[in-house]
Amino acid sequence: MNKVLVMGGAGYIGSILTRMLVERGYETTVFDRLLFGSEPLADLERSPNFRLIRGDLRDVAEVSAAVEGQDAVVLLAALVGEPACNRDPRETVDVNWLGTKTVIDACRYYHVPRLLFASTDSCYGIQEGILYEDSPLNPISLYAELKRDVENELLAAGGNGFSPTILRLATVYGLSPRMRFDLIINILTMHAVLHNKIRIFGGKQWRPLVHVADVARGFLAVLEADPERVKGQVFNIGSNEQNYQIGVLGELVRSYLPGVEVETIDQPPDLRDYHVNFDKAGRVLGFRVDYTVGDAVGEIETALRSGAIQDPTGPRFRNA
Ligand SMILES: NC(=O)c1ccc[n+]([C@@H]2O[C@H](COP(=O)([O-])OP(=O)(O)OC[C@H]3O[C@@H](n4cnc5c(N)ncnc54)[C@H](O)[C@@H]3O)[C@@H](O)[C@H]2O)c1
Repeated sequence: MNKVLVMGGAGYIGSILTRMLVERGYETTVFDRLLFGSEPLADLERSPNFRLIRGDLRDVAEVSAAVEGQDAVVLLAALVGEPACNRDPRETVDVNWLGTKTVIDACRYYHVPRLLFASTDSCYGIQEGILYEDSPLNPISLYAELKRDVENELLAAGGNGFSPTILRLATVYGLSPRMRFDLIINILTMHAVLHNKIRIFGGKQWRPLVHVADVARGFLAVLEADPERVKGQVFNIGSNEQNYQIGVLGELVRSYLPGVEVETIDQPPDLRDYHVNFDKAGRVLGFRVDYTVGDAVGEIETALRSGAIQDPTGPRFRNA
């Protein structure tokens, strides 16, 4: 396997994963609508094994041309997060359901053996107890409902040489060339650095977290695994130790940025509550996370204080 197509490769996770693939010598093509620009990949332009296609999942001809001849497709492209998906539900269905199904069909038609799909632990919704890959799903947003629907579609489409794998990601944090300041640890760190004050909405709900570089390593681990071990499989990507209750996150960030004022408001606007087990990826793929929240707080603080990131409250750092 040599040729990898990363759909959504200019995004928060994709711009890290694409770099890892290029560095490892994969013939790497990014297909992306470039909603947040192409700067996150600018330094790769001269790499001989990197190619960028500006394209849209909703355009069958563009998808078909990009998919043909690939050895693997990593599907990250989507409207991402509940607020972005609620803004225009029709567009969300067009991209996250119909566009995604086009990719699945194109992979099957052109005999692309492997498709890795970025799903989310948000599919678990609100549930008690520890949740495993085979626990029931309970999505409570359009974003998560469509992820669940695509998961079902993919699991049914497998076979006859087509091997889909689903990676259900914890909430991601950390520094990326396409930075997002609409993810909880990233927002808290930004507010701590800019205002010396953070606000936490909510208390006891569980939310698993994972560093963006570990997520990219998770995709690599699946790509490089024996296909027989991963085909038709779902993997939670994260770590048991990084399941946190929202109410402790303020203190957690303060432990790395002492002196920050923490205000807790026990009226969560976001009701998701899921405590996830991540043993399967360790057992089957040998996957373990390398990074902690403290690593992310440090790298984001440095990027903000050094001026490497300007205007972090600007719209290009948020999905909605
Ligand atoms: N970041 C997280 O916390 C998280 C958690 C769970 C799952 N995920 C999933 O991981 C994937 C990547 O998320 P991210 O955080 O990197 O988001 P992102 O918004 O930074 O990246 C998405 C990329 O997809 C592209 N895109 C959007 N619509 C497109 C279209 N119609 N055609 C082609 N490209 C299009 C965008 O231009 C962008 O570069 C998504 O599928 C997301 O649902 C992310």
